[in-house]
Amino acid sequence: MAEHAYILAFDTANEVVAVGLGRIDAASRDDVATLRRPCALSDIAAVREVEAHRASNTVLLSLVDDVLDEAGVSKDMIAAVVCGRGPGSFTGVRICMATAKGAASALEVPLFGVSTLDAVAWNAWAQGLRGRVLVAADAMRKEVYPVLFDIAEAGVSRLTADAVVKAVDAPAWAAGALQALGESADACRFDAVLGDGLVKYADIFEPLGAVADESLWAVSGRGLLLAERLGADPATLLPVYTRLSDAEENERIRLAKEDGGKNLRTGVQLFEGSQDAAPIDYRPLDAAHAADVARLEQMTMGSDAWKASLVADELPRKDRTWWAAFDGPVLVGYCGGWVVDGQVQILKIATDPAYRRRGIAAELIALVASDARNLGATEMSLEVRASNAGAQTFYERMGLANIGTRPHYYSDREDATIMSGPLPEARRDVAGMRLHVDDVAGGTDACETASHPLILAIESSCDETAASIVDGTGALLSDVVASQIDFHSRFGGVVPEIASRKHIEAICGVCDECLESAARSLGVRGLRWRDLDAVAVTYAPGLVGALVVGVAFAKGAAWGADLPLIAVNHLEGHLYANKIATPDIQPPMVVSLVSGGHTMLVHVRDWGDYVTMGSTIDDAVGEAFDKVAKALGLGYPGGPIISKLAAKGDPKAIDFPRALMHSGDLRFSLSGLKTAVTTYIQKEQQAGRELDMPNIAASFQQAVVDVQVKKAMAALDETGAREFCVGGGVSANPGLRAAYEKACKKRGVRLSMPPLSACGDQAAMIALVAHDRYKQGKFADWSLDVKAHAPLDEAY
Ligand code: KG4
Ligand code: ZN
Repeated sequence: MAEHAYILAFDTANEVVAVGLGRIDAASRDDVATLRRPCALSDIAAVREVEAHRASNTVLLSLVDDVLDEAGVSKDMIAAVVCGRGPGSFTGVRICMATAKGAASALEVPLFGVSTLDAVAWNAWAQGLRGRVLVAADAMRKEVYPVLFDIAEAGVSRLTADAVVKAVDAPAWAAGALQALGESADACRFDAVLGDGLVKYADIFEPLGAVADESLWAVSGRGLLLAERLGADPATLLPVYTRLSDAEENERIRLAKEDGGKNLRTGVQLFEGSQDAAPIDYRPLDAAHAADVARLEQMTMGSDAWKASLVADELPRKDRTWWAAFDGPVLVGYCGGWVVDGQVQILKIATDPAYRRRGIAAELIALVASDARNLGATEMSLEVRASNAGAQTFYERMGLANIGTRPHYYSDREDATIMSGPLPEARRDVAGMRLHVDDVAGGTDACETASHPLILAIESSCDETAASIVDGTGALLSDVVASQIDFHSRFGGVVPEIASRKHIEAICGVCDECLESAARSLGVRGLRWRDLDAVAVTYAPGLVGALVVGVAFAKGAAWGADLPLIAVNHLEGHLYANKIATPDIQPPMVVSLVSGGHTMLVHVRDWGDYVTMGSTIDDAVGEAFDKVAKALGLGYPGGPIISKLAAKGDPKAIDFPRALMHSGDLRFSLSGLKTAVTTYIQKEQQAGRELDMPNIAASFQQAVVDVQVKKAMAALDETGAREFCVGGGVSANPGLRAAYEKACKKRGVRLSMPPLSACGDQAAMIALVAHDRYKQGKFADWSLDVKAHAPLDEAY
């Protein structure tokens, strides 16, 4: 057996889960270049396809195990993992890719991506179909993903790049594609049409060619093994989307209008002190700033400068992406790209001469590249003046190469050098985010003497991608957080689709850094997945599409390293975060959980035994902070901004309502308070008075704090508990913390609070829960799924 090695491929982009196991020559096992070539395949060992109906996350890994069993292959014989990149259901593709990233990382083998549609075509090739073929996959919302292929005896060649079109426009798209290939589009008929787009749109596709047998419509294990592979590094492989998120699409439409340029400013950074002295703001370019672009064009481009109208004309186009850099209100740079045939062409890039050498151009290119990738591009090209050696070096460092010259391209007849190459990766630490890394313990133990179990925990329930490692004593060895807040703040809240996309971009980088950071804490050279004893992950509650990335990745990694899997409830994590500062807290106690999504008082009768005593009947506390900040025009997230302002104001200045203060129960209501604040603001503005922001913030915050403290004390009375603790983003609020200190002291109740960095979402808290679960022997299996809601009271 040992003379063979295998490639494991799977895909869950659509309704079918497909798995394939291919045998390769063992000699090519360690040669990535050879592995990338499909011809390295000497045999197909086993394949499996099942209908999954949106349950791919629960069946994928057991199906993989079945396939390995059938072929009698063990995991150490896997030389590479291959996963379908879509296009398909966004969540479906992310499940597949996150699992594959986890598995490849833990197995320490390369990860390749294949186009799901190429795999469909290759399967058809294997089944003997030949000729010019149109594959159309269902893209939901009355759209399809069409691709043209030529299938010959020798194999499959792809004729068009990934695209998404309205199903009714597919015939026109096909005619256009033929024309672009220099062929007659008159009789637009193909040798075969296939793909799951035909399920709903048979009437549209039937006139375009012979409908292939239905068994050829879906992706198969065989097709996945045969299709062209790209990539190698688990960290950098990304799904094919072909569209931006709806929030971004809508923003585009809004910003293209002259008066739509009211962008929210980025809020206070999560980790104070980490921000640059005078941060530059990056936002999509809007029509209101077209004139500023024209002004900079004049300054930097001479007679090749674009006029404002030309710039404004670009903005509403679906295949364009334009970003701008601002210093306060002043536009200091911009970059525009045009996505066509899988390539983004940089139309314009410039920075104000006074702002050069600050990395602005690179940041703008990264933002355009990121959009372009989401729109289906894989390459970038641009023109640069032949004499501009500095710029050429800059682009070379980005991975672009000189591929030719356009003679007399500029109006002064200077030549343009054409440069092109793969899309540059996101800058900063991972996925355009700055990592917050804590190497926690400072031990010098060698790994063999590290206290086991070592558990790596992952958190991805909202907009933080986080990982942390805890040792057998409950000490944290590393704590890494990538906050996506910069990508959401301009929308005034977390955009679920953007959150999911960022998680899949960041998850490998965050976990790699977590392992390295734990190794530093242990004083060892490196820590590998297989040195761990378990992998833990938040499975609920939270955003389903975000949770799924962490869960699929954790499952893949646990599977790859043969480790047990531990599922953790996010809310229990916030409770356990109190152990970071106070390791000896003991139930019975009361915990107040206050975040952007939750407001509740919980009786902790024992670890794992929780009774929710009361919660909010409308908005969560953090939500109220966010909404009030929005009403005051202060940006997102509101909590940190309001609490800073409140420190300068008079909490008694305005008498805002304290809802349910005397209700005699432990329910909360915050929507009335939010309305009272917005009404107050309107009245003041109508009366022509200037808003006293600090007083509004302080009075609002005091109204929140009064109710929180009153009810918390009532919960302590009701339970007789002598310990009180807090958790969730709002528990970082200084006013609330001070009020609890006072109230608990007065009562002789011990108060524990997480450190400020552990109030919001991170994975250290998940690791601490997992530490207990491991001791109890409570493990999850490969069918673990995510849940949007999961009350703490339910045992899991
Ligand atoms: O726990 P978290 O990071 O994420 C959720 O699970 O929601 O909480 C985020 C929430 C946001 O609504 C934010 O405005 C709020 O916590 N927050 C604060 C403060 N810091 C964050 N609210 C009040 N005062 C703060 N200092
Ligand atoms: Zn949370």
